[in-house]
Amino acid sequence: MAIAALEVPGAERLDLRILATDIAVDTLRQAVLGAYPPSRLEPVPKALRERWFERRREPDRAEGEVFVARPELKERIVFRRLNLADPMKGPLDVVFCRNVLIYFDQATRQRLVTAVEPLLRPGGLLCVGHTETLSGIRSGLALERPSVFRRPASAA
Ligand SMILES: C[S@@+](CC[C@H](N)C(=O)[O-])C[C@H]1O[C@@H](n2cnc3c(N)ncnc32)[C@H](O)[C@@H]1O
Repeated sequence: MAIAALEVPGAERLDLRILATDIAVDTLRQAVLGAYPPSRLEPVPKALRERWFERRREPDRAEGEVFVARPELKERIVFRRLNLADPMKGPLDVVFCRNVLIYFDQATRQRLVTAVEPLLRPGGLLCVGHTETLSGIRSGLALERPSVFRRPASAA
């Protein structure tokens, strides 16, 4: 996400910050390292790989090396442990809550969406996974396109 945003022309003028959360400490630890075996980055175009990652020899690893996210990428991202059932802070421009709703029952999903909606800036977006829906969930969010919901610009 950080790479996609930073590659937009004019992005250097943006105050881009990503709050990356998970409930699982091991998952967060992995994410903070920002180190990927070459096979994981194969789908990333070479130019982007070279701009945003540095290659590091790791003889103990199966593939012998890793690509590590460069500091200018990492510094945009803050990692925090967060249980989505706990209170959260805003305001936020976009919330990506992808492939997590599946873990929750309908009542918890409703509580989560009710909590996230006022944290979004007016006009802000909630993005869920491609296979997820907000069907049966009451909210003031408008469907923008499949999996993407917008808080109305006029929201207080
Ligand atoms: C299937 S993964 C999806 C990860 C990522 N969002 C993606 O789309 O690739 C689901 C993640 O949700 C996390 N998770 C499960 N319950 C959670 C909760 N109550 N609060 C925060 N994260 C949770 C899990 O630890 C796991 O990393």
